[in-house]
Amino acid sequence: MTILCEPAAGAGQLSPAAGSAVVTAADLAEAGRLLAADPAELLVVVGPSIGLDDALAFAEALRVDRPAAGVVLVREALDVVVLTQALRAGVREVVARDDRTSLADACARSRALSAQVTGVVPRPRAEERRHGQVITVFAAKGGCGKTTLAVNLASVLAAGGARSVCLVDLDLAFGDVGICLRAEPVRTIVHGLGMLGHVDVTGASSLLTACRPGLSALLAPVEPGDAERIPASLVGELLAVLPTMFDFVVVDTPSAFSEHVLAAMDASHHHVVLTTPDVPSLKNLRVTLDMLDLLSYSHDIRSVVLNRSDSKVGLTMDDIDRVVRSDIRAHVPSSRDVPISVNKGNPIVLDQPRHPVSEAIARFAREHVLAEPVAAAKSSKRWFR
Ligand SMILES: Nc1ncnc2c1ncn2[C@@H]1O[C@H](COP(=O)(O)OP(=O)(O)O)[C@@H](O)[C@H]1O
Ligand SMILES: [Mg+2]
Repeated sequence: MTILCEPAAGAGQLSPAAGSAVVTAADLAEAGRLLAADPAELLVVVGPSIGLDDALAFAEALRVDRPAAGVVLVREALDVVVLTQALRAGVREVVARDDRTSLADACARSRALSAQVTGVVPRPRAEERRHGQVITVFAAKGGCGKTTLAVNLASVLAAGGARSVCLVDLDLAFGDVGICLRAEPVRTIVHGLGMLGHVDVTGASSLLTACRPGLSALLAPVEPGDAERIPASLVGELLAVLPTMFDFVVVDTPSAFSEHVLAAMDASHHHVVLTTPDVPSLKNLRVTLDMLDLLSYSHDIRSVVLNRSDSKVGLTMDDIDRVVRSDIRAHVPSSRDVPISVNKGNPIVLDQPRHPVSEAIARFAREHVLAEPVAAAKSSKRWFR
């Protein structure tokens, strides 16, 4: 929880950047009362309507009374004199009112610092904690339809807000989840680097982009070179926290068995392995299935999905079955409406719910994800890596 001290008129604009769980105080006296009522409270954001002298006096007092708690000061504009005074009074950061990204970053840094000071990583209260399921969508060959399936599966599961779903774009170098959902990548996984080693619910929430009712996304970096900065351990940490916040976490992946993908596979309750009915894709599917076996992941959590299943490319279903050697749990037909929906930035399951592609994905979600709660994967052969 974060206390945002700002009268109601301005608080609404600052509140989303201050974090997911914000309680508003109209003045510093109320902020003081809220702090006194909750000893675990570690961050006060003081808004631009609160007088500077009062804000500094508050920060100075808090530094003595509650050294683990931080104050982030928001001002109309940044000014060197204010900055110096503020830092002298013990304010952790000063940010300009219209710079929401800096405010979110400052809050995350202050929370991280507080967590280090107290040695306690805040956890959601037991009654708020969820036990969401993680679904990783993978194919070793590019262009099979991983992103298409991940985006549409996440949208189906969110069911217009009936369930909460987070879509994680692990295609760190070329991720296009943001484009498929027309979501602005203001915050991406790159902003999680500062939280490495202490990702918590508040920190994870600050990285997410709200896309549709019930559907949030953790977007891939946009700057060239940023993908290489993301360690697999950050993925592991995020995938430990996100299921406590969402009913489902759907992970879109790159076309390679990276450490990041393995971290996702480890955290997953469902491995959805995708192929298309062509020889290179089927060959890569066979290698992928053998690899998953070698890593001792259970067959029970595995679903093979055949995308563009009706493409006439000279292979019979028998040819395909011989390679797959297990049930194909969904046949998603090929349709030019799929790329059209991508170009519109609206997943086909939302754009045309009765479309055969949408119905195939919805049926898969109903029969194999919603109907079958299972334990997380956790390969036993970690030494293999
Ligand atoms: N069932 C389908 N019918 C027609 N086009 C599809 C279908 N599935 C995916 N596509 C198209 O194929 C291309 C690659 O799909 P994408 O989901 O980006 O693959 P990946 O993420 O595996 O690289 C995209 O242009 C997408 O619109
Ligand atoms: Mg993709």
